[in-house]
Amino acid sequence: MRQIFPVAGPDLEVVARAAAGPLPDAVSQLASLYRNGAASDAAVPPGRGRLRANMVASVDGAVTLDGRSGGLSGPADKMIFTVLRCLADLILVGARTARTEHYRPVQPDEIWLQLRPENAPLPPIAVVTGSLDLTGCDSLLTMPPGPSQTIIITTASAPADRKAALSAHARVIEAGEHAVDLTTAVRALADLGYRSILTEGGPAIIGQLSAALLLDELCVTTSPLLGAGAAGRIVSGPPLTRGLSLAHALVDGDFLFCRYLVEESPAGR
Ligand SMILES: NC(=O)c1ccc[n+]([C@@H]2O[C@H](COP(=O)([O-])OP(=O)(O)OC[C@H]3O[C@@H](n4cnc5c(N)ncnc54)[C@H](OP(=O)(O)O)[C@@H]3O)[C@@H](O)[C@H]2O)c1
Repeated sequence: MRQIFPVAGPDLEVVARAAAGPLPDAVSQLASLYRNGAASDAAVPPGRGRLRANMVASVDGAVTLDGRSGGLSGPADKMIFTVLRCLADLILVGARTARTEHYRPVQPDEIWLQLRPENAPLPPIAVVTGSLDLTGCDSLLTMPPGPSQTIIITTASAPADRKAALSAHARVIEAGEHAVDLTTAVRALADLGYRSILTEGGPAIIGQLSAALLLDELCVTTSPLLGAGAAGRIVSGPPLTRGLSLAHALVDGDFLFCRYLVEESPAGR
């Protein structure tokens, strides 16, 4: 893998798996690249944390192949996925992504703990859900209470019995009456100390975060495939326009990895 924009960089070895011990040079260089730049150096927005999205899509914009994202990924994408997890306080996902992609708690041997501040807790998974249905990702409910415990972000009107049952295994946050208000949710997360949020989708969540002007940064892997069919795009929901500026671009074989900063003006360019 190597950087091609804004300057050409040296080859970075693709490291397949996170492990303890000395941090591979390529991993620390990649982490600096994703920490650097306007997005990370800017002040944290008042009242909320910084919010970065990471998605993978085919060249024609499909976010799934056969219903899931795995077929679009590759070793370098997985490495960036892991580095971005290492740099986050919390991982935010929509319930459909959690169910479809069988989300589970982040494990210490899955990330480079060396990239995290000393004694930092593992980033919890926070799931946005109205139904409170966690079928397919039940292992999210196995984390003990504490800063790494799974967070369920739901509504006041969500089924009360289910909410009570989940409260025994997860931290439940209400943010909205009939639908989760993402602004309220992200502020509640900041109040709990989660100031560097990584969202891994899906498109419905990224659409709402963009519409609410909460999205600061978007990392997109373009996979060298065509998908056609009915697969969604990386952002869904009502039409919106957001300008993006390219912070850096990397390539690995035929894969392209772009990091965009979201411009502040909702009108875009
Ligand atoms: N290519 C990639 O990088 C990538 C990344 C992520 C996901 N994906 C794919 O994208 C698909 C899922 O994405 P998606 O856009 O359909 O769904 P999503 O954003 O993952 O989740 C949507 C669900 O989140 C909950 N939700 C969202 N907004 C809410 C609100 N305001 N209030 C209450 N609940 C809310 C609802 O859960 P309930 O139904 O529980 O109420 C809703 O059904 C999957 O196929 C996944 O594989 C691809």
